[in-house]
Amino acid sequence: MTSPATELDRFLTDCQQRVETALRRLLPDAATLPAQLHEAMRYAVLDGGKRVRPVLVYAAGQALGADPRRLDVAACAVECIHAYSLIHDDLPAMDDDDLRRGKPSCHKAFGEAQAILAGDALQTHAFYLLAHADMGDISAERRLAMIERLAQASGSRGMVGGQAIDLAAVGRQLDIAELEDMHIHKTGMLIRAAVLLGALCAEQVDDATRRALDHYGKCIGLAFQVQDDILDVTASTEELGKQAGADRALDKPTYPSLLGLSGARERARELHQSALQALEALDERADPLRWLSRYIVERGT
Ligand code: IPE
Ligand code: IPE
Ligand code: MG
Ligand code: MG
Ligand code: MG
Repeated sequence: MTSPATELDRFLTDCQQRVETALRRLLPDAATLPAQLHEAMRYAVLDGGKRVRPVLVYAAGQALGADPRRLDVAACAVECIHAYSLIHDDLPAMDDDDLRRGKPSCHKAFGEAQAILAGDALQTHAFYLLAHADMGDISAERRLAMIERLAQASGSRGMVGGQAIDLAAVGRQLDIAELEDMHIHKTGMLIRAAVLLGALCAEQVDDATRRALDHYGKCIGLAFQVQDDILDVTASTEELGKQAGADRALDKPTYPSLLGLSGARERARELHQSALQALEALDERADPLRWLSRYIVERGT
């Protein structure tokens, strides 16, 4: 019998390769004019990142028997939004980080103006893909439901709202409820949307299953940012592919700064357990979701 770790590694590698191929195909070619903009978009998206959100799209879709061609498009759309959020997060006006995914941040490689535009264009490209890219015989209603979900998760009451809370919180003391609210928005909602987009690719999903997956997505979405905060303290710049210690340097409120490292780890473990409980009624096709929940709280440790 193969161990869960080996199975997880295989699942991650398969999904990472699959989404890489799909992204290369579904992003505008680097020679398309304006070439520098398209180069910057491809630079920020391709060959990098753990691809956690696309992997979650595949895992949720597979748990419900969804068509993999649909999942490719949903996975790429979510990753485009995520890559755009990273470009903007690194800008001097935001976290001012020079390193991302082990290479110079987009604005370091292409200049601030091109980086802002590459982020803008990746954002709209995500919705273009959901509206237009080949997803087999999918209905317009279903495309619309995905667009609605992704828009909600990305906008002022989702990721962008969370980023605004983050910037307003610099140097201030948040309480745990405020910190959790910030994390749920800036990181949690896109991860939650990734799970739900995977589910929306399946033909028929009953309400109880959809609710279970949504609860799972909510727990791991928050857990992901708790672990990101932990790794900012415990991991090296080389391991992270981004500047370690960046949160403290900017005096950001984080889980370790509020609860200490052990308190933050305990919170991540609780969230992992709640995520597993949410999946109790699902069969073994949901195992990749179970492995991923563990991966999210154990990565980098
Ligand atoms: C980093 O996300 C930003 C957060 C929302 C915490 P990831 O840790 O998923 O970054 P990549 O995609 O692997 O580079
Ligand atoms: C980023 O949070 C959340 C986003 C929406 C991009 P962080 O600022 O902690 O992400 P990293 O640590 O720079 O990847
Ligand atoms: Mg930030
Ligand atoms: Mg940052
Ligand atoms: Mg961080």
